[in-house]
Formats: sequence, C-alpha cells, structure tokens
Amino acid sequence: MADPNTHEDVPLGWPGQLWLEGRTLVHLQQEQERPSHMPRGPAKRTGVGFLNPAMAPARTRSVLLLADALEHGWLVKPGRPIRALDALCATGVRIRRWRNEIPSDLQHRLRITGNDLDEFALSWAKTSHHCHPPKRDVVHEPEDDRHGQPSDAVFTNGLHFQRLDARMAMVDAAYQWVDLDPFGSPIQFLDAALQSLSRTGVLEVTATDTAALTGSSPSSQARRYQAKGLVDEYAHDDAVRLLLGTVATTAARLDKVVTPLLALFDGHHVRISLLVKTSKSEATKIRDSIGWRVRCEDVPYRFVHHPAPDQLKAASGPMWIGPMWHHGIASRMTEERALDLCHPTEDEIQSHRTQGLQWSDEDTNHSARELRRSVRYIADAAELMSREHLLLNLDTLPRLAKVGGAPKMEKLLSALVEAGYAAARYPDLEPMLVTDAPFESVIEVVRMCHASTD
Ligand SMILES: C[S@@+](CC[C@H](N)C(=O)[O-])C[C@H]1O[C@@H](n2cnc3c(N)ncnc32)[C@H](O)[C@@H]1O
Repeated sequence: MADPNTHEDVPLGWPGQLWLEGRTLVHLQQEQERPSHMPRGPAKRTGVGFLNPAMAPARTRSVLLLADALEHGWLVKPGRPIRALDALCATGVRIRRWRNEIPSDLQHRLRITGNDLDEFALSWAKTSHHCHPPKRDVVHEPEDDRHGQPSDAVFTNGLHFQRLDARMAMVDAAYQWVDLDPFGSPIQFLDAALQSLSRTGVLEVTATDTAALTGSSPSSQARRYQAKGLVDEYAHDDAVRLLLGTVATTAARLDKVVTPLLALFDGHHVRISLLVKTSKSEATKIRDSIGWRVRCEDVPYRFVHHPAPDQLKAASGPMWIGPMWHHGIASRMTEERALDLCHPTEDEIQSHRTQGLQWSDEDTNHSARELRRSVRYIADAAELMSREHLLLNLDTLPRLAKVGGAPKMEKLLSALVEAGYAAARYPDLEPMLVTDAPFESVIEVVRMCHASTD
C-alpha cells in the first residue's frame, strides 16, 4: 500500500476498514458495518462516504458492459478510446473497479473521470486510489484535450477526479459513457447526461425511487414520471419500463434515439443501460415503443399504444414497450465472464491480506457466489428479452391454470421448450419466467406438469 501521507488530503477517519469488492480493495468508514455477503435491501445507513454494498452487483455488471464495449467494438471503432464519466462517483468504487478489473490489454483505451460534489467523498476516493493503484503494466497518461476541467481536478494512477455539480460536469465535456447513480431519482440529471454524450454513447442510470417508479407512491409517480401505476406482480417490470420510457422520451426531445442494452429491477433499485445515438428520424419513431400495459381477462396483460377509456382502470403507463435488452451483449454477460474479470486470484488475496484485509476462505467463496448472482439468468434470458415475450410469475400460475400447485421452475421451462417454445428464468427476486409461448399454451403445459406429478 502506498503511503497515504504522500497524498495531499488524507480524509478524516482514514483508513477506516478494508473490504474487497470484485478484485478492488475498498476502504469503508470505520463505523460502517462490515457488509454481509449478498446484501439485497437498501443500505442501513446511506450518506456521504458510505458504500452501499447492495449496489455491488450493478457495479460488477458495469465492469462487464464497459469491457464488452471495448472488446466488441459496438460503441467506438476498434482501437479507439472511450471517455467514461461517473458523474456522481462518491468514494470512487465504480471507477476504481473499471481501472482494476477491465482486462489490461483494453486499459490504454480508457479515459476515466470521477466527479462528485462532496469534498469528503472525493478525498476518500482519491486517497483509496492513491494507496491502491491498479496493478497494470499500463502507463496511464492524463488527457491533454479536455475541456471544462476544473482547476482543482486531479489525475492519479489513471483516474481524473473533479469536483463539480454533476450537471456542470456533463454540460462542459463530451463523453462516450456516462454513469448516473444519484440518491433517489435521476430525473434532474437526465437532460445534461444525454447532452453530454457523443453522437453515439452509453448511458447507465440507477434509480432508487422505486415507490415512485412502481406506483406505490402514486403522487410522486405522477409528478416525476407523468405516469400511473398498478402495484401487482408486474410492478417491478413496469418500474423498469417506466424509467426506460422516461429516458427514451427525454432523449427524443434532443433528437436522440435509445436502444436498451440491459434493464433490471435489482432488489431495491432500477438500473438501465442504453446505447444512445443522435438521429432525428429514428427519434421520431420513438412513439412506436411507448405504450401501456393493460391487465386483461383472457391473458395476464397486453401492451397497447393507447388504452381505451374502459381499459384505463386496469392499465399502467405510459412506459417503454419495446425490447428491453440487447441479445448479443446480454448473452455475453455470463457467470464465467463475471468470475474471469472480477474474481481475485489467490495471489491477489494474499497480497491484500498483507495490506491489512481480513479475508477468510469463506469470504472468497461468498464473493464468488455474489459475482455469479450479479449476472445469474441474464445470458439465458437474453434472446427472449431482446424481442416480444410474455412475462409470468410462477406463483400466479396455479390460480391462472386452476390447478393445486405451481410446477417447479426447471420442469416448466423444460416442458415449454419441449413443446417448441423458447422459455427462460428472468432475473428477479420473485420466481419470474419469460417465454414466447402464447398464454393458453403456457396454461396447458402447467396443467400437463401438474397432472404428471399427481
Ligand atoms: C448514491 S451516491 C453514488 C454512489 C457511487 N456511484 C458508487 O457506486 O459508489 C450519490 C452521490 O451523488 C453526489 N451528489 C449529489 N448531488 C450531486 C450533484 N448535484 N453533483 C455532483 N454530485 C452530487 C453525492 O455526494 C453522492 O456521493
């Protein structure tokens, strides 16, 4: 570990306690409880300098997605650099993970900036990165072609740190990759983020205002998202689609069109990743992808562009009704890939232990399980999520099929595939599945599964 005293602004409370997220050493505040593995809910305490461990899976997916863009050339031409901004980087864990965990042969193409308004969080980020520089043979050069960099911006070990209001930071410079991870709703940052993107860019957005997005707080939902919700088994999917729809319509106003890459409801937050391109003609067609979910008598729901007056009571929207993931990109987000990029080697753990990390073999196993969970079911569901599909909650099927109990998920998925349809588990805390089978066929298959267990 480098000497923190050779760093100019050692923050109050430093060094706190060491923790490992992915393969990146993180300093937690001393008073923050050591995270349990696989945390799911909101952090017990949030606020400046507190790392929310429940966001670790989203940060892992962000490492995978950025690495995929560099490797597969879908954002910039092969060999070209990507300028990435974490506009609200707090203690800098995401940007440090990008620098530490994206493969070393791609690192020289990354220009990374972390921005936050909070001085304490930033100094914690800078000191962490100073004390634990990325172990790469890559020489990270500061960029000399940057505009709008504040005078106190710092370049250290391959990361630019700056302290600006995020909206100023985004309006002042152009990026190909912008990450927005605010406390609560991202609404106030969306315009600036979209304007900050180059003609082709990626926007990743986190929203923790799930009460507004799901409709369990109807007044906030109407005020913030101009939408109406229904709190049932589709509330999580509606929340994801509502955020996608909001970003898509905001982008269209700026002549930009979005293609969702990945979009998930992850425990207590919604996280969406979109490819954004400038195109007036494509942006005009956005209305084709915006509509309402109407709960029906004959099928669980239908998407319509405009609900009829008698459908309104059973409808939620307006929201995104187009494809939610990109097939190729999401299908490469496998458990093997997550472990490959983000799981530390035994040598790395040994070296971290010499720096003071308390890490048992059990911790290693837990963190591997956590990495797998970050992407579990994504690759298998990728194809269906990139086209029209039916989303169903397994627990509602006995009622809908009028049978005594739900089949096992695996059994139902295999039976649907045997019947000639595509079917996959959908990543959610609830037992959700996606299929291209018509609803009546699903019901037949559920009854068949039930009969064969009698
Ligand atoms: C949820 S935290 C970000 C967490 C971080 N992305 C991570 O993965 O650890 C939100 C951050 O936004 C910062 N913030 C809030 N309003 C801001 C603004 N207008 N401009 C810049 N930063 C802001 C806060 O200081 C806080 O650090």
